[in-house]
Amino acid sequence: MKKKEITKQYLQKIKLINKFNKFYFDKNKSLVSDKVYDDLKKEIITLESSYIFLKSNKSPSQIVGHRPSKNFKKVLHKIPMLSLSNAFSEEDLINFEKKIINFLSKKNDFKIFYSAEPKIDGISASLTYKKGKFVRGLSRGDGKEGEEITDNLYTISDIPKKITSKDFPQEIDIRGEVFIQNSDFEHLKDKFANPRNAASGSLRQKNSEDTKKIPLKFIAYTFGFESGLKAVNQFDFLKKLDEWGFKINPLNKLISGVKNLITNYIEIEKKRANLDFDIDGIVYKVNDFALQKRLGNVANAPRWAVAHKFSSNKAVSQIKDIEIQIGRTGALTPVAKIKPINIGGVQVSNATLHNEDEIIRKDIRIGDTVTVERAGDVIPHVISVDVLKRKNTSKKFIFPKKCPCGYETIKEFNKITKKFDAVRRCPDRGFECNRIAKEKLKHFVSKEAFNIDGFGKKIVEKFCELSLIKLPQDIFKLDYDRIEKLDGWGKLSADNLRYSIDEKKKISLERFIYSLGIRHIGLENAKLLARNFGSFQNFKTLSKKNNYSDLLNVDGIGETQLVSIKNFFSKNINIKILNELDKVLNIQDAKVVNAEGLLRDKSFLVTGKLKNISRAEVKSLIEENSGITVSSVSKKLNYLITGEKPTKKKIESAKALKIKIIDQDEFLRMLNKTS
Ligand code: IVH
Repeated sequence: MKKKEITKQYLQKIKLINKFNKFYFDKNKSLVSDKVYDDLKKEIITLESSYIFLKSNKSPSQIVGHRPSKNFKKVLHKIPMLSLSNAFSEEDLINFEKKIINFLSKKNDFKIFYSAEPKIDGISASLTYKKGKFVRGLSRGDGKEGEEITDNLYTISDIPKKITSKDFPQEIDIRGEVFIQNSDFEHLKDKFANPRNAASGSLRQKNSEDTKKIPLKFIAYTFGFESGLKAVNQFDFLKKLDEWGFKINPLNKLISGVKNLITNYIEIEKKRANLDFDIDGIVYKVNDFALQKRLGNVANAPRWAVAHKFSSNKAVSQIKDIEIQIGRTGALTPVAKIKPINIGGVQVSNATLHNEDEIIRKDIRIGDTVTVERAGDVIPHVISVDVLKRKNTSKKFIFPKKCPCGYETIKEFNKITKKFDAVRRCPDRGFECNRIAKEKLKHFVSKEAFNIDGFGKKIVEKFCELSLIKLPQDIFKLDYDRIEKLDGWGKLSADNLRYSIDEKKKISLERFIYSLGIRHIGLENAKLLARNFGSFQNFKTLSKKNNYSDLLNVDGIGETQLVSIKNFFSKNINIKILNELDKVLNIQDAKVVNAEGLLRDKSFLVTGKLKNISRAEVKSLIEENSGITVSSVSKKLNYLITGEKPTKKKIESAKALKIKIIDQDEFLRMLNKTS
């Protein structure tokens, strides 16, 4: 080969790898499998060592921040790493506090102290210390399972390697944020879109020598598993962290009352631009650990904490077109295609317009000059239109009344609000609408569902386009010979995909139910259903028994969910999908959590108001102790717990069915507790 040809190929490969890097760092998307990526990198480096004339400052050999590999060992977190729910306004905070007070069944004037901690926008990590020694460090991963990045974390000087303080727990996972200071990021600007990407890239380098080249910092703020921790509240714990040699956020404060939280928020927001690290909000945590324990978690966020986000970055751009996207539940979402613009370090070219009513209300049109807002990980959206910049020729946007699948769309009537929905949707046709089917498949492979490595949204799009997949079962019968020959694929990547898919054939019942994407059945409801049915076969026979009203006994499942489940099972296509998936999958029976609990095999229902404890807390207590809660009196009920002003009818039916009726004290005694 001639020198020119070799150089051309070399530069092409570099261009390609940098495209992969860009997607990975800026959009958090892998365009190719790790194997394909690593092979490409190897080819470039081999070329460089074979031909001395090849040189490029964009080569992976010259750049520190290349894509990290997924070859890190995966390790379970002893205690999962949760996420936080968001609050954007004072109203959200008032609601957050109200919910806590209701859950704890306290009077409205109950004073709650919060640890208010500016939320650093970095990468979280969990550091395990045994007998004072830093023994292992994990990334957050999916919250349940992280990657073992001990060597890389070891290079961070803010992380103490040995702690000799007498009161340092025997064993503890210290959790916090790894980040890059803005002043240090200045030197890395041309390699990464923002400090967060730089920290993430650096932390997940295969070689810890590469991590060392980027000055990472660590701030500690919470703990996971612990044995021997002597702190009774978060603020004391933060103080201890400081004494033990960890860095803590200098702007942490102990505050009570929503008004004071807001004052602090405004003060910190003012300081924000002058800080040397990026913060994207303030985390409020109920200070008292005993209250935190009572409050517990919902799905994957604690009830006792919230992230109060700062208002986002805004920018002005122009709408080039308005596209209608069809969601998994059939909702038609208008999306503005805007002239690409950089908002807070991220290139934005799409902004959601929410729904038809929003377009009408704001009179948004193609060609309009608009202000677009982007807040953290929330999808960018159009906030206002500059009508003065509008041309005379501009026309109102007519929202399509038909789904691209050809079906007439509808606006549902909401019985509770007595209003028509703002959202227009393709009637819930599930997999029968090819547009919805595509979205359902994306959901099926997504992180919380089947979580198939390397099978992202782009691949679902592509495989649907090529008719390689139409229904979920097709994923498990892929034509790999064909895939291998596709542009950008090859034997290695096809094999990798097959491996990732095979690995996920074993799945828990709750994930499986969630993956079906039944409307109104999110993670929490899927869990409830899985626990109720126990096995896939029981779940499947629901359609045969036609006894949906039993579902109302599952506490948490209401009329809305019931109608949706019934609708799902009424479609032959769904039954066929279940049967086909049954043939290829290994769906695990639902695990009974803490089956040894004091309330094992017992079911409860509460009627009337209890003292100092809310319904929600009673429900958590029962479930923590292996009992179940039901929502009506039936033969399945074992105990009716009565409080103040109980429903007479419930007591009468319970008596008729000879169900044990107990009061709050008797109930607490069953748990070896007293009120
Ligand atoms: S507490 C138990 N405290 O925010 C709640 N998180 O959305 C979760 N973060 O993954 C952890 N500053 O990366 C906590 N002072 C702080 C934090 C903080 C930043 C990040 C962390 C977590 C994410 C949750």
